Amino acid sequence: MKSKKLQETMNNQIQAELYSAYLYLAMSIDCQSKNLKGFANWLNVQYQEETMHAMKLLAYMQERGAQVELQAIQAPPSKFGTPVEIFEQVLKHELHVTELIHNLYAVAIEEKDYAAQMFLQWYVNEQVEEEASASEVLEKLKMVEGNNGALFFIDQELAARTYTPPADTQE
Ligand code: FEO
Repeated sequence: MKSKKLQETMNNQIQAELYSAYLYLAMSIDCQSKNLKGFANWLNVQYQEETMHAMKLLAYMQERGAQVELQAIQAPPSKFGTPVEIFEQVLKHELHVTELIHNLYAVAIEEKDYAAQMFLQWYVNEQVEEEASASEVLEKLKMVEGNNGALFFIDQELAARTYTPPADTQE
């Protein structure tokens, strides 16, 4: 990979994905401590997804002979509030990540790196899904706010989520 700017932006994205992983892990721990085990599971799966996003970028950079430089990852908060507040933060964070991905894609265009544009298309699509899954949970939570019985059922539903690595990252 020739473009230093693209390498730098990809390195920043690896950091952003690992921070996302860290953030969702912290949210998962917070939910576990409140006995919201299904929420904790959903967020733990999200943590694994974010780690995969970072590793996929890292492997691509290595394949292209780019210089990978790991950066410091800041500590996330430890308290996130009610389930609605948690998922508002998840959605807000995903909207932020989408902006970062779009910026990274724009750099690949600017630097005329056609291979990177093809590769990054996966992330553009992934963000559509990331936003949709966060919105879906948030909308459900808003509908049942204040109803603990319904919250229990949502918790059970979220307990069923499992992590499946994408086909191209399976060993
Ligand atoms: Fe890696 Fe949730 O974006």
